[in-house]
Amino acid sequence: MNLAGKNVLVTGGAGFIGSELVMQLIKENANVFVLDNFLSGSKENLKECEKDITLIEADIRDAKLADIFTKNDIEYVFNLAAMPYIPECYEKPAEFFAINAVGALNVMLACKKAGVERVMQYSTSEVYGSAQYVPMDESHPINPHSTYAVSKVAADRLCFTLYHEQQVPVIILRQFNVFGPRETHPYVIPEIISQLSKSNVLHLGNIEAKRDFTYVSDAARAAIELMKHKEAEGQVFNCGSGKSWSIKEIAEITGEIMDVKDLKIVVEKQRLRPLDVQILEASYFKLFRLTGWKPEVSFEEGLRKTVEWFNACGKRWPWEKG
Ligand SMILES: NC(=O)c1ccc[n+]([C@@H]2O[C@H](COP(=O)([O-])OP(=O)(O)OC[C@H]3O[C@@H](n4cnc5c(N)ncnc54)[C@H](O)[C@@H]3O)[C@@H](O)[C@H]2O)c1
Repeated sequence: MNLAGKNVLVTGGAGFIGSELVMQLIKENANVFVLDNFLSGSKENLKECEKDITLIEADIRDAKLADIFTKNDIEYVFNLAAMPYIPECYEKPAEFFAINAVGALNVMLACKKAGVERVMQYSTSEVYGSAQYVPMDESHPINPHSTYAVSKVAADRLCFTLYHEQQVPVIILRQFNVFGPRETHPYVIPEIISQLSKSNVLHLGNIEAKRDFTYVSDAARAAIELMKHKEAEGQVFNCGSGKSWSIKEIAEITGEIMDVKDLKIVVEKQRLRPLDVQILEASYFKLFRLTGWKPEVSFEEGLRKTVEWFNACGKRWPWEKG
């Protein structure tokens, strides 16, 4: 099965991962619809492809979401719309739940009502909490450490239940950390790049924490390949690189790429998270077995591309541009 000629809608398509997914779907010759409320995403992210998409400014919590899907004959939905930035969830747990869990429920019910062929819930490795063993497969215990992660667990369980109770044709993709151009939040990699563009002294939080990073083009390709498989419905799939790097290692590699001399790292207590995940490292074997997907862009190459993009954008991330 392929998505050519299909009406495919991406919620959160104006965001970081969503905009990459949209551009790859256009290359697959899908008819692409983006539904976004521009909470963190922007039209700027879709500038390269604005003529090739139908942009719908709406909220996934809209009671008339099914009508939007029906009116546009939507056949496939990727649900990426969310509040994903963990430091913000300490201040706004209710908003995180309203969008990430209740919003996802609304998307699933709208898909059912509009007779959508297949929907993907975009989940996260954060649902697992810190690794109890590595690599982490889909059977790893669920132990979310933040209200963000709990809201994503709630969405995952809702999807699983709706698949069984109401035959909502949903696939759950648990993505490990993603990085690349057009990031929308000051996660650790953009933060390191930004600080190193100004100084050789880095101010960071938990530098021993290890994360599994997938370059954004690989992450989007995984979602597309998985969407093509009906047999994936009702199941959970991990996506990650299968390797992990400590924040300290990332700082050192980035320093080399950016040619920073005499790199110094200062650990600041106020940057530590209340309950941090110590290590995440994926097993993507289940995804590979079904789709043949594996990462193509190495971590170093991805970092290099990200730094190039940052430099081309005037050495400022979107949130640094006043
Ligand atoms: N970035 C990562 O490392 C990572 C890892 C695993 C999973 N995820 C998941 O990937 C998805 C995309 O994350 P991202 O990193 O691209 O973040 P992002 O903030 O760039 O994307 C989220 C998008 O959703 C939109 N949005 C938010 N609330 C909405 C609402 N109520 N209705 C419609 N649109 C809304 C935002 O405007 C934005 O465009 C999220 O579901 C996130 O939980 C991200």
